[in-house]
Amino acid sequence: MCGIMGFSRGFSGDLSRESQEIRESRESSVDIVLNGLKNLEYRGYDSSGIAYYEEKEKKIKCIKKSGKLVNLSTEFSCAKPVKSNMAIGHIRWATHGKPTDDNAHPHLDCTGNIAIVHNGIIENYSVLKNRLIKKGHKFITPTDSEVIAHLIEDYINEGKSFYEAVRLSSLEFSGAFAVLVLNAPEKSIAAVKYGPPLVMVNKGGDIYFASDVSPLIEYSDEVIYLKNSEIAYFHDGKLELTNFKGKKIGKTVTKIDWDASRSVKTGFSHFMQKEIFEQPSCLLDAFSSRIISVNGSAHSFSDFKILLENVKLTKKDIINASRIVITACGSSYYAGLAIKYMTETICGIPVIVEYGSEFRYENFPISKDDIFIGISQSGETADTNSALELAKTGHAGILSITNVPGSQITTMSNKGVIYTHAGPEIGVASTKAFTTQLLCGLLLALHIREIKGYIPASEGINGLNIFKDMVELPKKVEQILFMNEAVKEIAKKYYKNANFLYLGRGILYPIALEGALKLKEISYIHAEGYPAGEMKHGPIALVDENMPVLFLLSNNTLAPKTISNIEEIKARGGRIIAVADYEPEIEGLSDLIKIPETSEVLSPILYTIPLQLLAYHIAALKGTDIDQPRNLAKSVTVE
Ligand code: AGP
Repeated sequence: MCGIMGFSRGFSGDLSRESQEIRESRESSVDIVLNGLKNLEYRGYDSSGIAYYEEKEKKIKCIKKSGKLVNLSTEFSCAKPVKSNMAIGHIRWATHGKPTDDNAHPHLDCTGNIAIVHNGIIENYSVLKNRLIKKGHKFITPTDSEVIAHLIEDYINEGKSFYEAVRLSSLEFSGAFAVLVLNAPEKSIAAVKYGPPLVMVNKGGDIYFASDVSPLIEYSDEVIYLKNSEIAYFHDGKLELTNFKGKKIGKTVTKIDWDASRSVKTGFSHFMQKEIFEQPSCLLDAFSSRIISVNGSAHSFSDFKILLENVKLTKKDIINASRIVITACGSSYYAGLAIKYMTETICGIPVIVEYGSEFRYENFPISKDDIFIGISQSGETADTNSALELAKTGHAGILSITNVPGSQITTMSNKGVIYTHAGPEIGVASTKAFTTQLLCGLLLALHIREIKGYIPASEGINGLNIFKDMVELPKKVEQILFMNEAVKEIAKKYYKNANFLYLGRGILYPIALEGALKLKEISYIHAEGYPAGEMKHGPIALVDENMPVLFLLSNNTLAPKTISNIEEIKARGGRIIAVADYEPEIEGLSDLIKIPETSEVLSPILYTIPLQLLAYHIAALKGTDIDQPRNLAKSVTVE
């Protein structure tokens, strides 16, 4: 949902007087920003632009292009090499105004001395815009963001310093904003955050700003996260942090353990494909240091201990909680639905799962005894975080499961954070982040059970198998990944179909939803996920020989019911693809993907893998833009 990147060299003085030799040796700020934007392209990709301070002409120059980032890079590579020590750039996911060259960021003020890039929405932009137009400001775009440059200019016209103009403007905006402001006369940059993320690296006197850590890790693993209502002001090589009231604040440096090499495709055709294949090691990373064998024996739950380093739930919290409320969006919501099954089975506590976007307008009665769990890969999803804000207002306990250290959700989680440790996920369609969410949700359920000391009345689950199966999980995921070519062959049969149904029961129903979402997102084929038992209440009307129906079938008590549903589809001419953990005795299956068996609570992870591969191959055969599907963005920081 828009990515921003900025850079400035940290020395003062007249850079136009640098020796030719030094100047030649410096990497242009434009290249640094352009390179950074490549890492942020997953956040939006309908247009992009860079504003830079041209040292020789002593003014801001700005190049903006609609379409993918490659259009902007081409524009720069065709132009004369740029000499610049200061630049800001933007990659856009349009909200206000079409994705045209003009509407792309950066936006300038009337004088061309101020350039801004913005991630978020300025909700009161039209009121501010009308006021500024009356004062003579000339707007050239219908965007909400342009008003930022003009308001700052207006305060400067009134005699305020640049920093004060930025600060006073920030107090006037409502909505969500992460903004970088380049000021030509002063040769300074200001960064403002309220909502969407902004991270900085201050190294060797230089400053780098970005929407997330991925473009920064090549410069340093020590980053500074700007918090809400904070301003970073970089001038004459000095970095100053204040809040919106102008009060100075200290810098907290966070160490990031992401490996820069994880942000490159390394031989895979797409990031999504690479991320699917990374799952065995990501899953291992998610649990390996978190399960401890207590006494060397492995006979029951009590032989193991779960270590969730940041979780601060007490026995009292758990005894008092009459329910757990999970809030999330998209794939993370589906992970939440599966985690509901796990938690209810393992802990005997009822779980409610709510879409963040619905919850925030629902008048949901929140109790201080509720335990809320926010699930978000990015940790930035506006709907999820707003739901958690409400939970906070109701004094509930808040935990989060996220992949991004320091992201906004982590700052709201008074009962702790469980990091999925999946590493940067670049493909817009979530894969490894989703399966590690499932695993972390399971670890949390086991941890809650441990604190509660709960023994299910009818030992419906075998504790030993869960731990044993968890250890074997990465190997089993690998076995499924070895079926890649076979799944590709299946994809060849179906990629021309216009519709798909995905059906599952119990803990596999959320995986049917996730499988359908994956197919929709990257192949643009219409796909519906349904509980298999619901099919007869409506969707069965859609079934004919042109409707492939994918069933998730497990060899458990629900199998006979699911097989009856398969027969009902067959009787109506539908083609069946079954993903099953055994060889079911069903005649006339069009395709069977047989996966390894595991404990029921771990099964959603294994069933997800073939669905990811199927969606990937269907999309590849259709030739869609797999890593950056149309109309989507990785982090949805607007409502
Ligand atoms: C997943 O493939 C999607 N791109 C999308 O549904 C995503 O899961 C959703 O936007 C929530 O994102 P989050 O996990 O970062 O909060």
